Amino acid sequence: MVGPIIVLLVSLIQLCSFSSSSNDHLHAGKSLSVDTKGDVLISSDGTFSSGFHPVGQNAYSFAIWFNKPSCSDNCTVVWMANRDYPVNGRHSKLTLTKHGNLVLTDAGRITVWATDTASHLSAVHLKLYDTGNLVLHDSTGATLWQSFNSPTDTLLPLQQLKKNAKLVSSRSRNNCSSGFFNLYFDSDNVLSLLYKGPEVSSIYWPSPWLLRWEVGRSTNNNSRIAVLDPLGKFSSTDNYTIKADDYGARIHRRLTIDFDGNVRLYSLNEREDKWVVSWHAYLQLCKIHGTCGPNSVCSSSPKYGRKCSCIPGYRMKNHKDWSFGCVPEFDLSCNGGEAGFISLRNTEFYGYEYAIYTNYSVEMCKNLCLEQCNCKGFQFRFHKSHQPYSTYCYLKSELRNGYHEPFYGADIYLKLPKTKLSLSYELIQNYSLECSVQVEQLTRTYHERKESEPFKLFIQFLSTNTVLWSTCAIGGMEFLILLLVWFFLIRTQQQSELMGGYHLIAATGFRKFTYAELDYATNGFRKEIGRGAGGIVYKGKLSDDRIAAIKRLIDANHGEAEFLAEVNTIGKLNHMNLIDLWGYCVEGKHKLLVFEYMSTDPWRKTSHLKHLIGRKISNCIRNCKRLSLLT
Ligand SMILES: *[C@@H]1O[C@H](CO)[C@@H](O)[C@H](O)[C@H]1NC(C)=O
Ligand SMILES: *[C@@H]1O[C@H](CO)[C@@H](O)[C@H](O)[C@H]1NC(C)=O
Ligand SMILES: *[C@@H]1O[C@H](CO)[C@@H](O)[C@H](O)[C@H]1NC(C)=O
Ligand SMILES: *[C@@H]1O[C@H](CO)[C@@H](O)[C@H](O)[C@H]1NC(C)=O
Ligand SMILES: *[C@@H]1O[C@H](CO)[C@@H](O)[C@H](O)[C@H]1NC(C)=O
Ligand SMILES: *[C@@H]1O[C@H](CO)[C@@H](O)[C@H](O)[C@H]1NC(C)=O
Repeated sequence: MVGPIIVLLVSLIQLCSFSSSSNDHLHAGKSLSVDTKGDVLISSDGTFSSGFHPVGQNAYSFAIWFNKPSCSDNCTVVWMANRDYPVNGRHSKLTLTKHGNLVLTDAGRITVWATDTASHLSAVHLKLYDTGNLVLHDSTGATLWQSFNSPTDTLLPLQQLKKNAKLVSSRSRNNCSSGFFNLYFDSDNVLSLLYKGPEVSSIYWPSPWLLRWEVGRSTNNNSRIAVLDPLGKFSSTDNYTIKADDYGARIHRRLTIDFDGNVRLYSLNEREDKWVVSWHAYLQLCKIHGTCGPNSVCSSSPKYGRKCSCIPGYRMKNHKDWSFGCVPEFDLSCNGGEAGFISLRNTEFYGYEYAIYTNYSVEMCKNLCLEQCNCKGFQFRFHKSHQPYSTYCYLKSELRNGYHEPFYGADIYLKLPKTKLSLSYELIQNYSLECSVQVEQLTRTYHERKESEPFKLFIQFLSTNTVLWSTCAIGGMEFLILLLVWFFLIRTQQQSELMGGYHLIAATGFRKFTYAELDYATNGFRKEIGRGAGGIVYKGKLSDDRIAAIKRLIDANHGEAEFLAEVNTIGKLNHMNLIDLWGYCVEGKHKLLVFEYMSTDPWRKTSHLKHLIGRKISNCIRNCKRLSLLT
């Protein structure tokens, strides 16, 4: 037994002294792991980092971000490989294969993203440049792939926006998966902003009611390239050029299509450690198409920002997300129902007019609209100066892109059933847009890998916590023996598992539960399965059908902060698969821990050991904390 332990110790020491190199490149055959916090590439001047960035609860994207303004989990991300398919916070990794393919794999070993490149030369490497470009080179230095060619929502200085590429906004402030707004070259070679919603799409910049030459755009040059220079000039081949307010300064800049559909040029103010807007494409955010979804009106005020409201007689379709807009609360069958009109002052719904009538009075327009099934309402405009006509009536088949603007000078007449006509517009609920899309957690389950690597993970854990390691190593002998025993047990258990052929669904989300949820899961804390010093353990079934052991802590003296710190510690251990803690609950005096429930016999032995080892480690960490407080 002594032999293997010495070997182990030696290899542990070697691993611990091996500093997790913060480098700007990755060699063939190596990977970056989501489990190791320091596994990032850092550009040589320290401006950019590339690695796994959190995008939700236990959800990560492989990304490139600015290291300034100072940030931890909320950095300014400039590129993402897998924005629409985030990976698990455990066991996911980015690997550069020997054959030159860069592959991002999720915990269950599913390939989420790959560059699909190949090289017969073995010495490929991935390098993060000071420009923010992540480049895959072969041994001759040729470029196999670069992140600059597949932008996400941001263009960095000297990065070209080319034909067939586009910037796509985030879904919301808190959700960086693909949203509905695109910056791209349209088929006329003009750099445009497009709203590409679930049902309809339309260009909103340059102003669609103006001709291209009227806004100074040329349609002749089909090379379709736009680029931001380091001094702050953005220019495109359609003859569109703008300069930043602080043009000339050599500072960090980025051009981003934000989640609200506006394109902004940002400059980094290093003194105040924040981004400032040095140019924007759009001033009136409510006029950006699709802002509030169909049948609703956007209004904005300096005090409240942008707001969406359903028009009278309509209700919000999805209470978490305004982009779904509103749906009618009535059924206006074509011939039958009695209908009338409500007018909305200074309001416009852009587009979707199927007919225009001139020199009609309001009454004549109403009659026209009543006669036609597809008429949802009309806009009435009076132009004193316009010749030869003085009034315009636009019949609408859909009510989209609605906005309210004081002094707009035209009204909307909405067609509604007679019974709804008494509605007051002011009574309609309005919600702030800014928190429209809620961040949800990644809920994916996996079949646990047969050949689990708890030991490797443990070594990794130690090697990234060198302080911990050095203080804990002294008393670590007994601990290592335990670990070895456990390791062998796992091996034999795995073999029996293979023979038995049962699958274990491994949960991946570590989350906070509500007390009500756990009360429901345990059927009112009925089935007690164990009792210890700290509390009572109950068996329960979670809403996703996972069977859990729920430990209800008795110790009321535990402060909330202390409890959370403890959970955090166990959570980190859970990270390396030693104990499967799924989550916790802290609500008033209730403090609970939710563990994986071990039912079959082969597990019982190991689970006991797992908990034992877990306790050892948390004690160890606590001691280390104390030590670091003393020194
Ligand atoms: C990140 O969060 C910290 C603390 O919440 C805040 O001080 C900082 O300004 C944020 N950074 C960015 C880039 O949003
Ligand atoms: C298109 O624009 C590029 C870059 O500005 C320029 O080099 C090229 O000559 C232009 N082509 C035409 C046909 O104008
Ligand atoms: C580009 O714009 C400039 C002025 O900004 C104008 O003088 C020039 O004629 C334009 N070129 C084209 C091809 O439209
Ligand atoms: C429309 O009406 C205005 C006055 O109301 C009149 O001056 C104009 O001639 C009319 N146009 C046509 C084409 O009838
Ligand atoms: C709607 O928003 C306005 C401010 O824009 C606010 O004064 C009003 O109370 C809001 N109405 C509701 C029902 O929330
Ligand atoms: C982000 O939005 C997308 C699209 O609506 C949704 O499918 C996804 O679950 C959201 N992600 C998070 C982390 O909330």
